[in-house]
Amino acid sequence: MIEFVNVSKVYKTGTHALNNFNLRVDRGEFVFVVGPSGAGKSTFIKLLMREEKPTSGAIYVNGQDIVKLKRRKVPYFRRTLGVVFQDFRLIPNMNVYDNVAFALRVTNVPGREIRNRVPYILGLVGLAGKARSLPEHLSGGEQQRVALARALVNNPSLLIADEPTGNIDPDLSFEIVDLLSEINKCGTTIVMVTHEHDLVREFNHRVITIDEGMVVSDDRGNGGYYLE
Ligand SMILES: Nc1ncnc2c1ncn2[C@@H]1O[C@H](COP(=O)(O)OP(=O)(O)OP(=O)(O)O)[C@@H](O)[C@H]1O
Ligand SMILES: [Mg+2]
Repeated sequence: MIEFVNVSKVYKTGTHALNNFNLRVDRGEFVFVVGPSGAGKSTFIKLLMREEKPTSGAIYVNGQDIVKLKRRKVPYFRRTLGVVFQDFRLIPNMNVYDNVAFALRVTNVPGREIRNRVPYILGLVGLAGKARSLPEHLSGGEQQRVALARALVNNPSLLIADEPTGNIDPDLSFEIVDLLSEINKCGTTIVMVTHEHDLVREFNHRVITIDEGMVVSDDRGNGGYYLE
């Protein structure tokens, strides 16, 4: 599903964010990405969603070489992904329902389908009762679940999350990852960056550690886990 082959990223400032980075993630995997601040985790995510291009190397997502993707094709590629950020990025003047429906409206999904899918996905993330609320009237965990609903409503085959639990308390973080694990069981591939080692320990998923722009450990679960 994802393959990084000898990928390097040097930013304009001269910073070497990724150095000969190699990684393969198969369809249906759940991968935690950990590592110290500045290690290159967000750079990896940005390359994966084609927000940045690598300086060298090849990146394949769903069998497609996304480095060579033409600029006008990028929005279509992005729509095959679900992306969740630490800062939620909800639209403040839209209620919960519209924040989620918006993701479908921009892709010309028929109204009838929107009216079916949005309540279903809000139910899935436990927010059926909050459809008419504005983001500012929700708790951090609720806002994060709206962001998750929006990322999932297009039925992406790949869900990418950069510290999705960075702004919420540990109990809610656990619930979010529990929910992601359920979604993963239904076939969605998940790549999640996190700083929370307790969280990683609670779930038996693959753990990739990035340091100085390289994969320094890759633990396929079964209880083991790598300390920074
Ligand atoms: N747009 C940019 N321009 C220049 N340098 C950048 C840019 N983005 C990141 N960097 C640098 O690249 C390196 C890797 O940054 P990155 O954001 O990938 O780290 P990270 O592992 O996500 O860290 P954190 O855990 O703090 O989020 C850092 O040295 C950072 O300063
Ligand atoms: Mg980061």
